[in-house]
Amino acid sequence: MADALVPTTSLRSSFYSPIPESAREDLLLAYRRFLESRNGDMDLTRGFSRREEWLREAAGWRSEFKGRVDGEAFNRAYARFDEVKNLSMPEVALLTFVKANAGEAYGVEVVNRVRQKRQDGTKLFHQVERLLSFEETYHTRILIGATQHFGVKVEGAWRPNLQLRLLIGSLAYAPGLFFHPILLASEISGVFIFQWMLHRVGQIFRDQPAVRESMERRLIEILVDEVGHVAFNRMAVGPTGLSVVRRMTPGILQGVVSTTPEYKAVGLNEHEMSKLNGFDLHHLPEEVLRRAYFV
Ligand SMILES: [Fe+2]
Ligand SMILES: [Fe+2]
Repeated sequence: MADALVPTTSLRSSFYSPIPESAREDLLLAYRRFLESRNGDMDLTRGFSRREEWLREAAGWRSEFKGRVDGEAFNRAYARFDEVKNLSMPEVALLTFVKANAGEAYGVEVVNRVRQKRQDGTKLFHQVERLLSFEETYHTRILIGATQHFGVKVEGAWRPNLQLRLLIGSLAYAPGLFFHPILLASEISGVFIFQWMLHRVGQIFRDQPAVRESMERRLIEILVDEVGHVAFNRMAVGPTGLSVVRRMTPGILQGVVSTTPEYKAVGLNEHEMSKLNGFDLHHLPEEVLRRAYFV
């Protein structure tokens, strides 16, 4: 059985390969142990000790972005996408960080509210599910933390547009049979987007190594979590479900990108999105594969 501290990924692993039902309970226990070692004390009111430590350390990364940053234009674009044309590419990249987080935070909140009332799956499964939702709140904080290098503060909570709210709403109310395939497809498209962003910030901040490193380290932390989330959702989906997931993922990616047009502004166009076809675990950075839980 996989040990929490031993890397579980191998080159043969795939997002879409089935997990035998008989192994699931053991794998779930192993994943829980992994979450304990990664997150430290997992208290749902006080927070996860290791993640709080990480955020405290990251708050001390003091490097400043060298270039023009217009805080007012940034906040205008935060409120209205039309204004994005007045931003420089590094500002658009930062905006994408902040919005990716707001959309996800909204999604997690709605899905949780609905899901908490439902009882499907084992007790352990639900426990782990709650821990993962809490990890998502760290993604929000990790991404928003990048604003410190730009001296901008975002004003007011951004609300996803109606289209995204409908997408999330239908996800929250989907019956168990569809819920996990949709969620799994969303997690896979999330991994694809974060991996793409990782590559993209490397280009955009090429000449500013300290800022680039901060942005990259934030994305890597999130990718490590998201790979685990993919593994977890695979434990709830059988072989037939997985083939549905594979066909569904491009549509979900399209949906996310069309509801968050900042992604297009930062360069995630049709051609780039077509790379989802064939995208799998082995495309991720070595560090992510080494530190993530995957079965
Ligand atoms: Fe996330
Ligand atoms: Fe996730």
